[in-house]
Amino acid sequence: MAELPIQLIERLESSKRLVFFTGAGMSAESGIPTFRGEDGIWKKFKPEELANFNAFRKNPELVWEWYKYRREIISNTRPNPGHLAIAELEKYYSVEVITQNVDNLHRRAGSKIIYELHGNIEKNYCIKCNKRYDFFDFKLIDNKNICECGGFIRPDVVWFGENLPLDQFNNGEEAAKWSDILFVVGTSAVVYPAAYIPYEAKKAGSFLVEINLDETEISSICDINIFGKAGETLSDILSKVKQIKGE
Ligand code: OAD
Repeated sequence: MAELPIQLIERLESSKRLVFFTGAGMSAESGIPTFRGEDGIWKKFKPEELANFNAFRKNPELVWEWYKYRREIISNTRPNPGHLAIAELEKYYSVEVITQNVDNLHRRAGSKIIYELHGNIEKNYCIKCNKRYDFFDFKLIDNKNICECGGFIRPDVVWFGENLPLDQFNNGEEAAKWSDILFVVGTSAVVYPAAYIPYEAKKAGSFLVEINLDETEISSICDINIFGKAGETLSDILSKVKQIKGE
């Protein structure tokens, strides 16, 4: 087990409410590529052709092809030890998760309170009548993405230029502001409005702990920076908490 900073251990001893703000690096150890960086998704694909509503109107088949590809990757992955550690921490703290990821891995790991800022790739809705096709049979939807009303069904993910789901954002922000510790895990923190959340939490007095392989836009405002893999570091944190709680 890696040594954790003493200030973090002291905080873990006195805290009640933990909030995790997660990005693509959280799921990297599950085998899901991140967006930026050398092997990032946006190095290989153009968001303007794939992740916006105009692209979908122009060429829904292409956009569905792309989501089918990503769903395929995601459906073959599993929550990693980091997702599982966050879920297990619920035994010891009040825990809430705010995620920018659409991969559903926090839910699959067992976390109960999750704010999905950018939607969920396993959910869909019709752009004409709004009928939901949540956790819809993938094969059927991939072959026939037309609603019974005749409208196009789209994935329930936030595309460039679209608003975030307001309830998810507001509730997530509120949770972050009330947290004793906000862990900022595996995000480059460059996509807004999501990236406002750690700043708001800091202003409200939360203690910020960043877990990332590298320095990011948010590093300088964090109280502690742990440069390491999310899965490994969160497992270490869980082990330390078990020690603190006498297990
Ligand atoms: P990015 O790809 O921008 O950043 C991923 C971060 O994870 C980087 O800072 C990496 O250093 C870090 N990282 C990679 N592997 C890691 C590991 N094993 N452990 C810890 N950290 C690791 O992804 P996001 O910040 O999530 O938006 O991107 C934000 C948004 O941009 C996404 O939600 C998506 C994208 O466009 C939408 O789709 C709306």
